[in-house]
Amino acid sequence: MKRIILILLVLVMCMSLLTSCTEDIDSILLKDKYEDYFTVGVATGYTTMYSYSDNDANLIGHFNSMTCENEMKGAALQPSEGNFFWDRADEQIDFAIANDMKVRGHALVWYQSAGSWMFEGADGGEATKEEVLARIRTHVDTVVTHFGEKYGNTVYCWDVVNEAISDSASEWYRTSSQYPFYEITGSEFISVAFTQARESLDALGLTDVKLFYNDYSMTDSGKREKVINMLSDMLDAGVPIDGMGMQCHYNIWSFDVDQFALAIDEFAELGLEVHITELDLDVYPSSSTAAYTVLPEVVEELQATVYSQIFAVCRAKSDVVTNLTMWAVADDYTWLTDSTVLAISRQNYPMLFDIFHEKKAAFYAVIDF
Ligand code: GLA
Repeated sequence: MKRIILILLVLVMCMSLLTSCTEDIDSILLKDKYEDYFTVGVATGYTTMYSYSDNDANLIGHFNSMTCENEMKGAALQPSEGNFFWDRADEQIDFAIANDMKVRGHALVWYQSAGSWMFEGADGGEATKEEVLARIRTHVDTVVTHFGEKYGNTVYCWDVVNEAISDSASEWYRTSSQYPFYEITGSEFISVAFTQARESLDALGLTDVKLFYNDYSMTDSGKREKVINMLSDMLDAGVPIDGMGMQCHYNIWSFDVDQFALAIDEFAELGLEVHITELDLDVYPSSSTAAYTVLPEVVEELQATVYSQIFAVCRAKSDVVTNLTMWAVADDYTWLTDSTVLAISRQNYPMLFDIFHEKKAAFYAVIDF
């Protein structure tokens, strides 16, 4: 009898130990787990942000940095010349503050979000170099000053210029007939934007707000070399650039961890801080037209492995990597499922939380260290 009681007692103890372990894992917040490494951010949209904070899981509670998915971009803030629209971005920043998050400012100059008025000349033809540069100065100054005066250093950094480098091997800077920043100003649109941002922030005493250049495909050594040459030339010329934003829209089937680590090292060698600004992991091989109604377990496991590699490299280099931002909260809302952005319409599963806001294998993989 005594033996049976003893066995039962041991069993009960084991079970309660198991339950307390599970409870522990489930109460871990990303931002706490990564407290000694870097801040953990998330991109949210004006129309979607509330759906992640008003439920039991409070997914927003995992993050201590927020990026507005679209609301702080060029034409979103200045749809026509001289007319600024702040309501949505302000509401998002209020939301961030209410949820203990700081804000990555994104993005002051990005070809795709510039209003067409930016390139129209006063005489009805194409704008001159002086006109475009003056508009960039006005936009950067007005935007940085608005958020700086209203929120101080809550907006703790800015992606000043986004995606200025070409994907094509035969081109250095990006060219575009619809958004001809480079055609009209050469690379001056970049240096002018950074210089203006620094001047406007310094004028408010916000000297601690950092300025970033942001771009994608930094595991592609050819494109990376062009970015590095540009940054190095600009730094030599005294352009005030503090950091490199690596977007990190990767694919689980082709991710190259060595190039990823090397990229961070090379940006660090320039003396720059690194932010991982837009991390998500597409689950479909690039040419595949598959469409999973449920994420297959083997694919979820591969995604977890790649996520754990990315987070591990960033932890190992956390003297340089000071923020890692996820480009959505959960799989129910991601640009990779948006058929207006991508040619194919299908559910993708790129995030750490699933379409029901439950933790995926990837979440557990990145807190397992
Ligand atoms: C780029 C931009 C982001 C976002 C994504 C796609 O990476 O920097 O702001 O628009 O494309 O959603």
